[in-house]
Amino acid sequence: MSILEIRGLTATVDGNEILHGIDLIVNPGEVHAIMGPNGSGKSTLSYVLSGRAGYEITSGDILLNGNSIIDMEADERARSGLFLAFQYPVELPGVSGMSFLRAAINARLREENQEEVDQLAFVKIVKAEAKKLGISDEMLKRAVNVGFSGGEKKRYEILQMALLKPTMAVLDETDSGLDVDALKIVSEGVNLLRHPKRSMLVITHYQRLLSHIIPDKVHILSNGVIVKSGDKTLALEVEENGYSGIDDAA
Ligand SMILES: Nc1ncnc2c1ncn2[C@@H]1O[C@H](COP(=O)(O)OP(=O)(O)OP(=O)(O)O)[C@@H](O)[C@H]1O
Ligand SMILES: [Mg+2]
Repeated sequence: MSILEIRGLTATVDGNEILHGIDLIVNPGEVHAIMGPNGSGKSTLSYVLSGRAGYEITSGDILLNGNSIIDMEADERARSGLFLAFQYPVELPGVSGMSFLRAAINARLREENQEEVDQLAFVKIVKAEAKKLGISDEMLKRAVNVGFSGGEKKRYEILQMALLKPTMAVLDETDSGLDVDALKIVSEGVNLLRHPKRSMLVITHYQRLLSHIIPDKVHILSNGVIVKSGDKTLALEVEENGYSGIDDAA
């Protein structure tokens, strides 16, 4: 059974239809990349998957592990194993990073009928994971994303993913704003999380990321529909020739 199945999905934002019928199947363990010009609907797709308010599904369905999630609230989707790293991570002033991470992990553990982690064990796990991603203890003590640089926010998203161990992770432009070293660290973090039971959807503009995170499939989104799908060579094609011609080929 697929981990994620999107069937004929159309969605509107403020009454404007942005997604015009998306079909996508991601099987267990697969990493798919979505590329596409600015404004093609990539972030909209990630918001619709997350269940963000204001994004209305007008037809079609989204199945996670075979179950429809479109009637679920955002938090329920997250507890079911869907993880979203947004293009613009939100700052949460006053929310301690450590409490935030611990609450998120425990909510997920409860959902899986597993025991919650105690404070001591939790701190140990977080520090170990943070170290791998080049996140300092000082950063962990701060409020979620507040005052973090663009690149630090992106690393923090990967830290959350490493801790939550989602079954389906959607990463929206996790590479943008990263310096070369951070790009490597983040890609390694993502690669470490590749697992036969975990799937990922990586939204990116650059082949650069995909040379670190080798995708099983690449899809091109244009004007709210997937116009072409292929293997990793499709990303190279885009890098070389841009998007012109791809729509026509569809
Ligand atoms: N509230 C809104 N009302 C009307 N149109 C909107 C609204 N929000 C987004 N859009 C439009 O939806 C389209 C898709 O936007 P989206 O952010 O999904 O693009 P994207 O593919 O992620 O682009 P980028 O590569 O620049 O991140 C854009 O044309 C955008 O202007
Ligand atoms: Mg976007």
